[in-house]
Amino acid sequence: MLKPLCGLLFLAVLGCNTSQKSNNETVADSTAVDSVASTVPKKDSLSVYLPDIKASLPEAQTVEVKDDPVFFKAKSYKAIPLLTVLDQFLPAYKSLDIKQTQIVFECEDGYNPSMVLEKVLSKKAYLALSDVDAPKGQDWINPKKGDHEMKIAPFYIVYTDVPAKDVTFKWPYNLVKISLSATSEELAVLFPKDDDTQVKGFELFKVNCLTCHSLNKVGGKMGPELNYPKSVTEYWQVDQIKHFVKAPTSFRNECKMPAITHLTDKELDEIVSYLKYMSKHKV
Ligand code: HEC
Repeated sequence: MLKPLCGLLFLAVLGCNTSQKSNNETVADSTAVDSVASTVPKKDSLSVYLPDIKASLPEAQTVEVKDDPVFFKAKSYKAIPLLTVLDQFLPAYKSLDIKQTQIVFECEDGYNPSMVLEKVLSKKAYLALSDVDAPKGQDWINPKKGDHEMKIAPFYIVYTDVPAKDVTFKWPYNLVKISLSATSEELAVLFPKDDDTQVKGFELFKVNCLTCHSLNKVGGKMGPELNYPKSVTEYWQVDQIKHFVKAPTSFRNECKMPAITHLTDKELDEIVSYLKYMSKHKV
């Protein structure tokens, strides 16, 4: 349901268009250290910028995906097991509790889906480097969504044993960076500690909105920050927020936010209520 895409995949689909690397501030990241670009990953690094390691990746194998949720058909890719990539370039994961660790996939456009690392590792996940069916001289075929051409390069995460309809798995394409982040640490600042009634709204926001929107600077960067310095609930009427979520293009022509139609009114109320709560808990 990205943009026009159907219900399934709003979490997994998005063309990316800026060249800016997204920078999840909560992810421990050793990059800022110096200006000398190094292709040798630091052993304790918790993030890896994939274009930097492309040349040092092991040889790719051909994998078949029966029902690819981005292409809506069977596909074959040249790919490397994600586990191999982690072993070689993010070995620090071994010292983390994989149940308490999020793997954050960062796309070029700031879309940052994440999953519990344990869940990703429970399936046959691959880092796909190229599409076997791409024309000679190209690595990828870019599918069209309406008039818009999606950019799959440089990397795409696929699974050979996850059905397309399982929306709890993310299939990020246009992927540039993989980071690991302690779940509790990352989300602690957004958890409604002093008001249990907001937990549902928090969960809903986390699953449906956080991949694209940040609150208190934590979260995706594809859409605008919704809490800091001004909460969206301070300058929009509550009802308008709900309408906007259901039909963004009825407010803004060619709006880049996909319509989110699978949430009930009650769920939207919970999300908005949580946003109001967060407006009183700014950084
Ligand atoms: C796939 C990414 C994506 C998801 C998921 C998403 N949004 Fe958005 N959202 C955007 C983008 C991009 C914009 C900016 C739209 C524009 O103006 O073109 C936006 C804009 C908004 C705005 C308008 C903010 C303003 O002041 O202009 C609100 C409110 C909003 N989103 C709420 C939500 C809520 C609530 C959810 C979850 C139920 C959500 N969004 C999920 C991408 C997303």
